[in-house]
Amino acid sequence: MKHVFDKLFESRVWRSIFRHGLPTSNRTRAEAVFYNFFLHVHPTKVRKRSIRYTYTWGLGGLSVGLFIVLTVTGALLMLYYRPSVQQAYWDMKDLQFVVSSGQFLRNMHRWAAHAMVAVVFLHMLRVFYTSSYRPPKEFNWVIGVFLLVITVLLSYTGYLLPWDQLSFWGISVGTNMVRAMPCGFGEKISFLLLGGNIVGENALIRFYVLHCFIIPVVAMVLMGIHFWRVRKDGGV
Ligand code: HEM
Repeated sequence: MKHVFDKLFESRVWRSIFRHGLPTSNRTRAEAVFYNFFLHVHPTKVRKRSIRYTYTWGLGGLSVGLFIVLTVTGALLMLYYRPSVQQAYWDMKDLQFVVSSGQFLRNMHRWAAHAMVAVVFLHMLRVFYTSSYRPPKEFNWVIGVFLLVITVLLSYTGYLLPWDQLSFWGISVGTNMVRAMPCGFGEKISFLLLGGNIVGENALIRFYVLHCFIIPVVAMVLMGIHFWRVRKDGGV
């Protein structure tokens, strides 16, 4: 067995991925992080206190985990859902009562969405109470605020898609609140969001595209910047 491992570690393929041996000094440790594709997301140095579980509570990581669960279950839901006024409600019913494990899939997506809003908020509280918004991390705090808004918008746009009474009235109330903004701005934003003055076919397709494409892409770009800053600002 040892022979097999030795052969593997000395092979060209292995050495083209892992370009260093086991680190033995601070210098080789830093090199390991710089040169390895999988390790490069880690900061080269972190403070001992900040890698304690009770410092981060794993909340940032949990937020990413939930986002991945939402992306996978969301992609599967897209296979069964058609965003039209005639189909949307019945597609959700079919998903629950006809598609095998459909109810489970829908519930996973829904609960992960609720959990993500709560976990991202708790992560923000953790960052606040450990004063991690202070320089040099103030830029990442601002990116975080955008991520919180994006998380809420993802949840809100998904709310309309089942096209039931709760969805319809939830979005009607929400967009009427937007409409109440002064100087005619509200009217314009609400019109743009709904594609008209009522919650109908245009609103459904707009919310669908926002929920399944535009907002997730913005979230991924912002998360990329967020993780890059976590690394550059010296870890957590
Ligand atoms: C989709 C939402 C978010 C994701 C996926 C996310 C992910 C992460 C991860 C993985 C970390 C490193 C580990 C940890 O601290 O737990 C982190 C750190 C950080 N996050 Fe977030 N985050 C999100 C939202 C936010 C929000 C809403 C804020 C604040 C308004 C924020 C501010 C920060 C800051 C300042 C750090 C650095 C913390 C430190 O150095 O102690 N993040 N984030």
